[in-house]
Amino acid sequence: MSMNIDLAVIGGTGVYHLPGLQWQDSHALQTRFGAPSGPIRTACIGSAQVAFLARHGEGHALPPHQINYRANLQALHDLGARRVLAINTVGGIGPDYGPRALAVPDQIIDYTWGRISTLCEAPGSSVLHVDFGNPYTESLRLDLLAACKNAGVGVVAGGCYGATQGPRLETKAEIARLRRDGCDLVGMTGMPEAGLARELGLSYASLCVVANWAAGCDPVDTEITLEEVLANVESVSGHLLAILEHLLEP
Ligand code: HPA
Repeated sequence: MSMNIDLAVIGGTGVYHLPGLQWQDSHALQTRFGAPSGPIRTACIGSAQVAFLARHGEGHALPPHQINYRANLQALHDLGARRVLAINTVGGIGPDYGPRALAVPDQIIDYTWGRISTLCEAPGSSVLHVDFGNPYTESLRLDLLAACKNAGVGVVAGGCYGATQGPRLETKAEIARLRRDGCDLVGMTGMPEAGLARELGLSYASLCVVANWAAGCDPVDTEITLEEVLANVESVSGHLLAILEHLLEP
């Protein structure tokens, strides 16, 4: 089944729906890579059609390294999406990226391992060496930044996303290394998702929600708790619909 989807949203930790939106339909899709993390919900924002998929499943059952990223993106593609907004819950490393900040990164360093990270492994597929110098689609990034501005929501423009394996959080030494490498943000789901989106020819950008200071970055050295992470994401997720409304304005 293929529809005219103006934007697909992949929700991260703490974003299992879009507050304020009523779903119209739910699609249980199968792809050549298997099943996505859960049903794809669809709704209208104004005259635009939006699709939504919870990356970890609706009950947050899937850890980052077990998500079927290929099936998720293929399912959104099969449904008709050509633009994907990834919402990524992250830890903040750089001083501008404190808890509850929103950021639209422009670079990625991939520290993940053992994840299927390409479509090329599918039987019969040819080898692709897609350009990935700018891992996010610049036009969608700029539209997203403009939408945040028009919605009156503060956002940090740019930053380097370090993708770690998880599901455990990082050590302070690992974060110190990421900082030296130039990472501003750290999360567990940014890759291989962005690379697969490029291979599929999808426009793809990330809106990062900073849930906590990454290990060793908090001026007050406290333990990171899931409660803190979810409370910070919750406080920011109320802005999402307004951002989407501006992003989808005709
Ligand atoms: N590290 C990695 N991923 C995360 C973090 C973190 O500190 N917070 C939320 N996702």
